[in-house]
Amino acid sequence: MKEIGIGLLGFGTVGAGVVEALQRNGDLLAGRIGVRLVLRRIADVDLDRDRGVTVDRSLLTRDAAALIDDPAVDIVIELIGGTTLARDFVLRALRLGKPVITANKALLADHGGEIFALAAANNTGVWFEASVAGGVPIIRALREGLVANRIDRIFGILNGTCNYILTKMEREQVTFEHALKEAQAAGYAEADPGLDIDGFDTAHKAAILASLAYGIQVPMEKIHVEGIRGLSKADIEYARDFGYRVKQLAVIKAVGGEVEVRVHPTLVPHDHMLSSVMGVFNAVVVDGDIVGQTVYTGRGAGRLPTASAVVSDLAEVARILADGGRKARYSPASPSGKITFRPMGEVECRYYLRLSLLDKPGILGVVATVLGQHGISLASILQKEPNRSGRHVSVVILTHRAVEKNIMEAMRILEERQALGAKPVCLRIEDPGIEKAS
Ligand code: HSE
Repeated sequence: MKEIGIGLLGFGTVGAGVVEALQRNGDLLAGRIGVRLVLRRIADVDLDRDRGVTVDRSLLTRDAAALIDDPAVDIVIELIGGTTLARDFVLRALRLGKPVITANKALLADHGGEIFALAAANNTGVWFEASVAGGVPIIRALREGLVANRIDRIFGILNGTCNYILTKMEREQVTFEHALKEAQAAGYAEADPGLDIDGFDTAHKAAILASLAYGIQVPMEKIHVEGIRGLSKADIEYARDFGYRVKQLAVIKAVGGEVEVRVHPTLVPHDHMLSSVMGVFNAVVVDGDIVGQTVYTGRGAGRLPTASAVVSDLAEVARILADGGRKARYSPASPSGKITFRPMGEVECRYYLRLSLLDKPGILGVVATVLGQHGISLASILQKEPNRSGRHVSVVILTHRAVEKNIMEAMRILEERQALGAKPVCLRIEDPGIEKAS
């Protein structure tokens, strides 16, 4: 049987998972794809740490460049992360015409244009199934399964750490910090957990999904990003009382000839499937104009789920190489025309507002007037009794569809008029079960 040589850059959590998957299912894979995948070299700075898998020590090296250049290595897997060394290594492999498989969403989001152009110039490709939603084959779904469709909307729970934290906070009523520590201990969080909880990991993944859906590179500055760091238990509870669950969501929509890409904590109706996605699981809802709504879910982080996605790319690339082709390039940017991005201020959706109001006559009237003057119509309102010592009461308002800049301006005016005792909480509401508005 034909052999294809693999070089693995990065023997960390996912790297060790790839080795384990190949050891466990190598025969099964060979039977399925008609090619044997042979691990030829593994490069890492630390050659001694126990990774829970046994490998022949002669495969290990600290010299990543030598691994890439080794003629016995046909495919390079980049799992070292970061955007500096990883970029250098990926470019080096592509210059040699070697296909690259990567899980590195930050690298693709920041340098995708350069990387895909170099791959194309060298008649090879970059595969990245593991970069979005771990073990969920969403890249392949967009590239192949849904190729017949114009993509109207994508909603994604794309960060396992955030979903794990939100689930823990809701179910076990633990603090944000406690839940984050558990996520880190389980190996879900990025080395810098700020990437997860401040929304940037989700934004990198959203950029990749949007690039596949619309054939464009999405600059990070076009994505509105908010994290879950400041989210309070009170908002999770109020949301539940109104029939919603708070999820950290990537929202990608084609609206009136523009594309909007945003990442923020979002209220999702309890009865939509996305709401029941718990823990480290990810889920992506894709609306296509031909197929309608489709949903994909599975483990979005961790050693073996991510390895499953890496090995799926390996199988595809190995088949291509075995068929004699370096030709089957894959670039997400198959331009579908010029796209303009909708500025966040123009985005329209429903809102959850939690206002801390001075407990005095007429104040709710002021709020209703200011909101009304900005074209914001109220759908529900809830006011709790003030606590005994408090001068303020919490009022939670759910609005009908409103324009973001109007909401922000209304909040600014209420603050200016000193109606509020604390910064207002403004969360967006999305209902993926309702047909798109335009
Ligand atoms: N830190 C990421 C997550 C890992 O929690 O989803 C996969 O990108």
